[in-house]
Amino acid sequence: MYGATTVEYRLDPHDNWRIDFEDIASKMDENVRLLVLINPNNPTGNVATPAEIDSLLAIAKEYPQCTIISDEIYDGLDFTGHMSSTASHSNSVPVITLNGVSKVYFAPGWRIGYMAWHDPENRLELVRDGVERLLRSRLCASTPAQHGYLAGLLDEHGWLEGHRSLVKERLDYCIKRIGEIDGLECEVPGGAFYMFVRITDQRVASDKQWVLDLLHRHHVLVVHGSGFSPEYGSGHFRMVCLPPIEILSEAFDRIEQFLGD
Ligand SMILES: Cc1ncc(COP(=O)(O)O)c(C=O)c1O
Repeated sequence: MYGATTVEYRLDPHDNWRIDFEDIASKMDENVRLLVLINPNNPTGNVATPAEIDSLLAIAKEYPQCTIISDEIYDGLDFTGHMSSTASHSNSVPVITLNGVSKVYFAPGWRIGYMAWHDPENRLELVRDGVERLLRSRLCASTPAQHGYLAGLLDEHGWLEGHRSLVKERLDYCIKRIGEIDGLECEVPGGAFYMFVRITDQRVASDKQWVLDLLHRHHVLVVHGSGFSPEYGSGHFRMVCLPPIEILSEAFDRIEQFLGD
């Protein structure tokens, strides 16, 4: 609506999809208004280290018009132990944190999330006023859902540990299976519940066609990597590790069969 364009930055496919700071720095200028970080990352599973968050803030600090959007919706699904909220590192750059109930609390149907504004120098006063007007005018998550999420945020979180270890167990199973299949390889995700799998089979020319053929012939649904980024995601697909092991096992058997065809 306002003539903005998006510019993608590179993540290193051979180093756990770590953020490429040189690439970001080379793409920054005074026109950049929003620098987006998804941490833990969908689709790669990378979890930025505290030092990397500081590096990102140092880049943004050079451009006073730039705000960081930090989408941390997978924050409770961190297996590295170093997940850290971007806003907690910033003493000048405005950070808008996004979060919601759908991933960590496994409640996508509740349709509830939040933005948290951290703006130490009050640079976004007008923008914030605009967003609040918009919220008052027509948008609202249902009140019972808001109370439910609040209880989830405030009450003790011990019960989440069981879910987290279940996801980790399934993720480990997927990584093992991918490692055993000729034609596929994958970086080990540090968080979230996805794997961004590289198709190393030289016969595969298009990740999108491969994904469609897999769906039509073997009824396994994954997402083509070029849909996330034609430049950086081509030759990959994303899969989810949430189903029970028996279903994951069946899906991998079919993928293996498909690659053997
Ligand atoms: C990084 C990220 N942010 C936000 C969302 C949105 O979640 P929801 O619409 O369920 O709140 C998703 C869902 O896939 C996501 O991966």
